[in-house]
Amino acid sequence: MTHHIVRLAPAALALVVSFACGSSAPPAATAGAPPAKGATVTRASFGTMPDGTPVDVYTLTNVHGLEVRAITYGGIIVSLKTPDRNGRLGDIVLGFDSLDGYLKSSPYFGAIIGRYGNRIARGRFTLDGKTYTLATNDGANHLHGGVKGFDKVVWHAEPVQNDKSVAVIFTHTSPDGDEGYPGTLHVRVTYTLTDNDSLEVDYYATTDKATPVNLTQHSYFNLAGDGSGDVLGERLTIDADHYTPVGAGLIPTGEIAPVESTPFDFRTPTAIGARIDADNAQLKLAGGYDHNFVLEREGDGLAHAARVVDPASGRTLDIETTEPGIQFYSGNFLDGTITGKDGHVYGHRNGFCLETQHYPDSPNHPTFPSTILRPGREYHSTTVFTFGVQK
Ligand code: BGC
Repeated sequence: MTHHIVRLAPAALALVVSFACGSSAPPAATAGAPPAKGATVTRASFGTMPDGTPVDVYTLTNVHGLEVRAITYGGIIVSLKTPDRNGRLGDIVLGFDSLDGYLKSSPYFGAIIGRYGNRIARGRFTLDGKTYTLATNDGANHLHGGVKGFDKVVWHAEPVQNDKSVAVIFTHTSPDGDEGYPGTLHVRVTYTLTDNDSLEVDYYATTDKATPVNLTQHSYFNLAGDGSGDVLGERLTIDADHYTPVGAGLIPTGEIAPVESTPFDFRTPTAIGARIDADNAQLKLAGGYDHNFVLEREGDGLAHAARVVDPASGRTLDIETTEPGIQFYSGNFLDGTITGKDGHVYGHRNGFCLETQHYPDSPNHPTFPSTILRPGREYHSTTVFTFGVQK
């Protein structure tokens, strides 16, 4: 499952700089590489954990004013500002104003998900003849890494400033036995904001015992802007001829089904809401879309996976990935009980997630692409989110 796409050249990584708290001063020039003009990465405090551990927020800004703010708790993207067709910046992700909101109860808003994004049936799998029992936190199943997944740990962070991008590198060590998983897993996740208006997410991991790994990013997008109601009018394209139907508990049945002539056919731009309430057993089971799509791809390089266009604001989002699948979740469990940023009440389907990943429950489906990382190999997966406007 190792991917070989290296988007951030090692030479560029040499320009790691540690800024003083809140400083926006550019780094000292380094021989051979001019400092970025206008792009900045800064650090500030975002509060403290109940045990006193400080949590920081890193703000990445590119030459066009796009801004990504990510915190060390869960690697959570707390805000993401992009311009609409009139050049007005708007925050296009759901979340909370302060750490408290994320600590109380968050449906994984903006977080890094691991060790395993999505579900593992009954929290059990057998690997190399040994059966492992994981924490169960979604009925009888294991979801998004368990009770305390990577979304709930404080990551170590380093800012990076390159010529045409700014980045923050998050690192975390998951101990042997963490949530039931074997092996000590060293994880590194990089958020890079480029001057081409892309947010590149690179995931790396190594282990000392074979273990499943399936890392993803769980931002809830609303391209019309956080707090502007449901996303049903936003037009989605997914480059998938097939998807993985689910049974009870949203566990894949193992079937790879064609999207043709179903509400799962997003091969041409279609409003998210156009067929969401159709008389379809899969939609009824999940209360809307909450399914993994099998991406059309050749080899394991970056391939275009999905595009979303908001006709009202003109904002567009394109997603490319090295992953074989993408979970499209239409925010069905949002029900108005969460009040987020600026007092916005998040109602039904007020945000969507497009989580690049391997298929759910792969450790129990030998026919699905493998998610097993072995000692001596490096996990590397890349997803690129590109923001634009349509006039
Ligand atoms: C899952 C949903 C789940 C949500 C958590 C998504 O990735 O597919 O079923 O409810 O995460 O809020």
